[in-house]
Amino acid sequence: MRSSIQNNNLTSFWKKQVNLLSWFKKPKIILEKKNNNYKDWFSDGKLNVFYECVEKNIAEGLGEKIAIYYINKNYEINKLSYNEIGQAVDNLSNFLVNKFKIRSNSRIIIHSSASFESAITMLACAKMGIFHSVIFQDLKKDAIKLRIKIFKPNLIISRDNDENIKQNFQEIINKNHTKLKFLILREKKTALKFNYLKSSQLLKCRLKKKEKFMKINSKRKFFTLFTSGSTGEPKGIIHSTGGYFLYSKFTCKNYFGMSKKSVVMTASDAGWINGHTYSLYGPLSFGSTTILVETPMLLLDTKFLEKILKELKVSILYLPVTLIRLLKSVSQTKKIKSNHLITIGSMGEPLAPNVGNWYANFFKLRKPVVNTYFQTETGGIVTAPKYNSNLEINPHGSVGKPFKIFGICLEKNSSEKKGEIIIKNSWPGCMIDVINGSKIWNKYWTKEGYFKLFDIGSYDKFNNLNIHGRNDDVINIRGHRIGSEEIESIILKINNISEVSAIAIKDKLENSKIIIFVVTKKKNKEKNEKIKKKIITKLISYFGSFAIPENIFIIKSLPKTRSGKILRRVLRVIASKPLKKPIGDLSTLLDKNSILEIKKVVNNEKK
Ligand code: PRX
Repeated sequence: MRSSIQNNNLTSFWKKQVNLLSWFKKPKIILEKKNNNYKDWFSDGKLNVFYECVEKNIAEGLGEKIAIYYINKNYEINKLSYNEIGQAVDNLSNFLVNKFKIRSNSRIIIHSSASFESAITMLACAKMGIFHSVIFQDLKKDAIKLRIKIFKPNLIISRDNDENIKQNFQEIINKNHTKLKFLILREKKTALKFNYLKSSQLLKCRLKKKEKFMKINSKRKFFTLFTSGSTGEPKGIIHSTGGYFLYSKFTCKNYFGMSKKSVVMTASDAGWINGHTYSLYGPLSFGSTTILVETPMLLLDTKFLEKILKELKVSILYLPVTLIRLLKSVSQTKKIKSNHLITIGSMGEPLAPNVGNWYANFFKLRKPVVNTYFQTETGGIVTAPKYNSNLEINPHGSVGKPFKIFGICLEKNSSEKKGEIIIKNSWPGCMIDVINGSKIWNKYWTKEGYFKLFDIGSYDKFNNLNIHGRNDDVINIRGHRIGSEEIESIILKINNISEVSAIAIKDKLENSKIIIFVVTKKKNKEKNEKIKKKIITKLISYFGSFAIPENIFIIKSLPKTRSGKILRRVLRVIASKPLKKPIGDLSTLLDKNSILEIKKVVNNEKK
């Protein structure tokens, strides 16, 4: 059952935003509701994201302008004009169609960090309307295999020419996916099952035929990104073409004041929602210049950071909170002044008031940090202090006053200050589906059909929202989301481990750190060290190195309630250093001795 919604505040608000994009067919229908809280935005509209990001800018005379600077891990700064991007995307599209028989119903996985290669490949997919998914370049075999199983791509494009990765790919093909094809950008070699293409060829070779860009229906699936929830497997969050793209531009304009004049540097991986919305599609849709950073850690070299800000005339700097905290710890009393810098932003995690204050002072700006609050699911920023807001009423630390049109509420008892954040009204950037996940999809909605963010929030005296972390079992580590159950199910694959519990504890520098408690089948000290090594190897191969736990404790039994639920709260208190808080109510605990034993193990390790 469908019904189109007309003439209320919501649709008239978003109708006014339609002109942010140049459509091939301007939508008349703003919002359509379907069953099960699925909604389509601008469903009769037609557009092409590549056209809007590249071709239109060329047509408007920006062909020679630098569209992308990309900084590689060797501190080298490379640049591409809009003309060069257009050329590279045309070449790659042509190559994909002719060599790999890629069609508009094909699916592509892009295995790459923020780079020239990821940008060109994403734009080629946008041009041809190919449903795609960017996955982190440091994901290893198991994680890649799982994403292939869920997404079922026809082709993987990787920029990684590392021998191990090639072997992993080869194994994946041989075992399960003989029809799957691989294209490695950057290098040319003859190998049995791989195709290689030098990235430089994307710029140089001249084509006979230019692939046409499609006029794409607004509600068509644009891309999916894998993220973690409280289930054991990553979930593929799907975004639409028109709604997502319009929302990207809307948020860039309203929160960052982005325009053609902007030079935007976002230290964000391509496999993150930020790497889509704020590193690529948003900035290019304005005809501005974006700077991609392959290894954000390079920016901890403050001399280099200063050089980039000045030489590339960065006007908007948008960094993950983890990086800001590290920058604070390495730069001490140094300050950077750049006349071009107008706005600074933060992403991924709570920005503590003192860190926000330091960040603004470091760049000699007396303005609120645009502390952006959002999720993979929301497509773009839900709320943030706006670039032109006032420090008096937007003190550092909050995520600003949400736009009224969202109808953001806290679900709580009237006596409490903190509550669960929900969004009452739909917005165009909202995910449109979850791969194979109607069960998971349903978890996102309250019985009234409101969207649940699974975060706890409260309001300050100026009505700014503050975020206090997740209320499900999701751990946010260096801006990456991992479900505790996901960690646990991976560890349980190791022989000789019978039970496991993964928790996060607070950390000054990194915000949170992972702690693992495991129960083994055979107790043997010598084996314990081996088991710990196995756990670390398994976690790195599945998630990447950011998931290395701070500590692994091997214990006799986990603290459980009589109904079998693990008391993670207790584990969190015991694992936190120093042990300040009381452990709290233990009346539901099955075996009180387990607590004594766990305390002993933890204290022995701390010594
Ligand atoms: O808990 C919130 C936290 O990160 C989660 C979303 O993670 P992910 O889907 O990986 O998206 C990352 C892109 C931002 C949220 O549910 N989070 C994100 N931004 C903030 C935040 N927590 C506090 N303050 C923020 N500004």
